[in-house]
Amino acid sequence: MTIPRSMPRLTVLGAGVIGLSCAWRAAAAGLTVTVLDPAPASGASWVAGGMLAPVTEAWPGEEELLELGSASVRRWPGFAEELSAAAGRPAGLRTEGTVVAATGAGDRAELDTLAGYLARLGREVERLSGRELRRLEPALGPDVRGGLAVPGDLAVDNRLLLAALRAAAERAGVTFVDRAARAVLDDGSRVTGVRTDGPDVDAELVLVSAGAHSAALHPALDGLVRPVKGEILRLAHRPGAFPPPTRTVRALVDGRPVYAVPRDSGGLVIGATQAETGFDTEVTVGGVRDLLRDAERVLPGIAEYALVESAAGLRPGSPDNLPLVGAVGPDGLFSATGHGRNGILLAPVTADAVLALLRGEPVPEPVRAADPHRFAAAVTARR
Ligand code: GLY
Repeated sequence: MTIPRSMPRLTVLGAGVIGLSCAWRAAAAGLTVTVLDPAPASGASWVAGGMLAPVTEAWPGEEELLELGSASVRRWPGFAEELSAAAGRPAGLRTEGTVVAATGAGDRAELDTLAGYLARLGREVERLSGRELRRLEPALGPDVRGGLAVPGDLAVDNRLLLAALRAAAERAGVTFVDRAARAVLDDGSRVTGVRTDGPDVDAELVLVSAGAHSAALHPALDGLVRPVKGEILRLAHRPGAFPPPTRTVRALVDGRPVYAVPRDSGGLVIGATQAETGFDTEVTVGGVRDLLRDAERVLPGIAEYALVESAAGLRPGSPDNLPLVGAVGPDGLFSATGHGRNGILLAPVTADAVLALLRGEPVPEPVRAADPHRFAAAVTARR
């Protein structure tokens, strides 16, 4: 259904993967869309590894997040195809799947627990010995003693994705304004505009999708989104070095998680640390040391690769690890933020939900758990 021309204008605050996906979808459906961001397609979306991994990110007690992630990963192939056609460039999807590797006995026990939990939920995971894993991925080293194959957990080159989203959004008529939003303005009951670091912008509909910076933009989001730092490394294969894996490799090394996400170029993205140190994007010596040490235990060949980039991003963490997708505060204000470790995975289902909200239609079933009104006291009392 196309949104009628009489629909109000939408202002999107934040041009990361969530803001861009929502802006593209809304503009393609007929809305007049403006995106405010001082540095579009940067931040956590730029730094990310790009795993689309509802199963291997799953955690007992977070079944609603698993459902939401599964709904989104199912959308990914169609989303990527449509995006690529709309943008005229590749969306960067990789469908080779994921393996999870364990090193020590404690790591194997932890993976057994995860495999048992996932099997009880009916998820597609296959337990494999170290030898079976190495047959699938010869890049895995002898310290890998066993693990899992999870073919349904995919990956995307986040930087190709961002370029495609920006191109598709521009082709759909989205206007980009390279200014920071400072606050959403309202008259107590309705949104009236956005304060920026330039002139104020009138707005009738506002979507806050500013990642870790979202909480500062309206009192209704105050305290509901916090920065969770992640450091990441980018490696490039060099001639003569052992070839990289074709699947995403996730591993536990003496209890520490590490992952390596292959790129079509032969590169690898190694991630990621996790720390709650506020708005801190410095890369630490300890972070780089831990990532390289653990990744090399699992993929010994990377010692011959070039280290081409280190970076830190701020995941937008929420109190319960589910995002905040829905109406908040005064009429006309919506949020699509708090996606934590899963922003890129959840982009397609979030964009579908935001489009439904803008049309006044019900959101897809698994997105209901992400309604910000689960923090009702905060969302309504702080109008
Ligand atoms: N989704 C992986 C991470 O946040 O590091």
